[in-house]
Amino acid sequence: MFDPAVVLEFWDESHPRWEELKALSKFLGDSPYVFVDDDPLDFYAAVALSPTNEIVGYHVFLIQPIGPEIGITEIKDRDGNSLQEAKIRGLHVLKAWRNRGIGTRLQKLTLEKAAELGVFQVRSRSEMSKVENYSIKLKLGFACQPDLRTFRDGSTAEGVYWVKRV
Ligand SMILES: CC(C)(COP(=O)(O)OP(=O)(O)OC[C@H]1O[C@@H](n2cnc3c(N)ncnc32)[C@H](O)[C@@H]1OP(=O)(O)O)[C@@H](O)C(=O)NCCC(=O)NCCS
Repeated sequence: MFDPAVVLEFWDESHPRWEELKALSKFLGDSPYVFVDDDPLDFYAAVALSPTNEIVGYHVFLIQPIGPEIGITEIKDRDGNSLQEAKIRGLHVLKAWRNRGIGTRLQKLTLEKAAELGVFQVRSRSEMSKVENYSIKLKLGFACQPDLRTFRDGSTAEGVYWVKRV
């Protein structure tokens, strides 16, 4: 269901409400890796605003070269240019606003803006339990790479890397 009362905006770190966005992410219990204060990379966010201008959803990403995040050489094109990606850090829609198409719209706006920023792909990782996000990713045509994460205590977590060329 599309809710036309909800307006989407695209923000960068210079937006006057950026700190409010970070505080909301913290309040909602997002991973501390959604925003990292001293990260030198550029962060952006697709943000959903209610008719009263309340933040009701967000999709946060940064722009980075493809490869160095896991310690490997940058992937370059045949002219030697480093390929960049929009790496998703966080996606959240407030409970009361879910299943109205906001999560889908946030991801579509991110794909659109990532293309404008000149990146090669959009990539994210989510745990296998995130079924709503899976629905959206499949609907939007993302490819999936299964991933098994092993922690220091030997426990594991099944997840998926979602990747889409923009
Ligand atoms: C993921 C999230 C952002 C989606 O937001 P949303 O505004 O409800 O998204 P949409 O309304 O655009 O789409 C929700 C989709 O989930 C589907 N869905 C809902 N419940 C579902 C379930 N139990 N199993 C599978 N799919 C389900 C809906 O059918 C819809 O897909 P459709 O449009 O193809 O029908 C929201 O659920 C959320 O914030 N969850 C908690 C945080 C989270 O999981 N973040 C992702 C981290 S990887």
